[in-house]
Amino acid sequence: MRTAVLISGRGTNLEAILKAEEEKSLGKTKIVLVLSNNPEAKGLEIAQRSHKQTAIVDKKNLDYCEQESEILEILEHNKIEFIVLAGFMQILSSNFISKYKNKIINIHPSLLPSFPGLKAQKQALDFGVKISGCTVHIVTETVDEGPIILQKCVEVYSEDSEKELADRILREEHVLLPKAISLFSLGKIQVYSNKARIVE
Ligand code: GRF
Repeated sequence: MRTAVLISGRGTNLEAILKAEEEKSLGKTKIVLVLSNNPEAKGLEIAQRSHKQTAIVDKKNLDYCEQESEILEILEHNKIEFIVLAGFMQILSSNFISKYKNKIINIHPSLLPSFPGLKAQKQALDFGVKISGCTVHIVTETVDEGPIILQKCVEVYSEDSEKELADRILREEHVLLPKAISLFSLGKIQVYSNKARIVE
């Protein structure tokens, strides 16, 4: 399964994915491309260290439609079959999503449907929840609302800073995202209407 990982920043999830690939625990996944919409993304260095092909389509230099069609072109050129959003800070258009229907997944640092959107960890702290976590879901047109593949919870303590909670969640993200990718590549995820089911 020819896979692209899309990033915008530090790339710790990307690093976890590449480590899992190296350890042969990513199923039939082959990471063939790491694409960033930010030329400064630290994750690009991580990709290069692993000798992965990288591409940059800066979202600052182009208008939205041009930038997105450039991304699509690169994905098509590389015969990408599956896309992982790993901290990719950009909303994809319905045209883009329909071209890869049920073939794009995202990791979000909360237990969706709670706290979608930006600063999910801060939202959780502000609300005072006692449990939060992370979610891997299929990307649909509504942001952070697609079928849920996997979730993992972590405790939230009253004395937590945003960073402490984010770090606790991140450790779980690094396990959950490679696991979801592996399941996908092995054909173990089925999507029925708005639900994803894991089949053995
Ligand atoms: C993660 O918290 C992820 O859940 C969110 O963006 C962050 C990306 O972190 N979507 P990193 O770039 O993988 O370190």
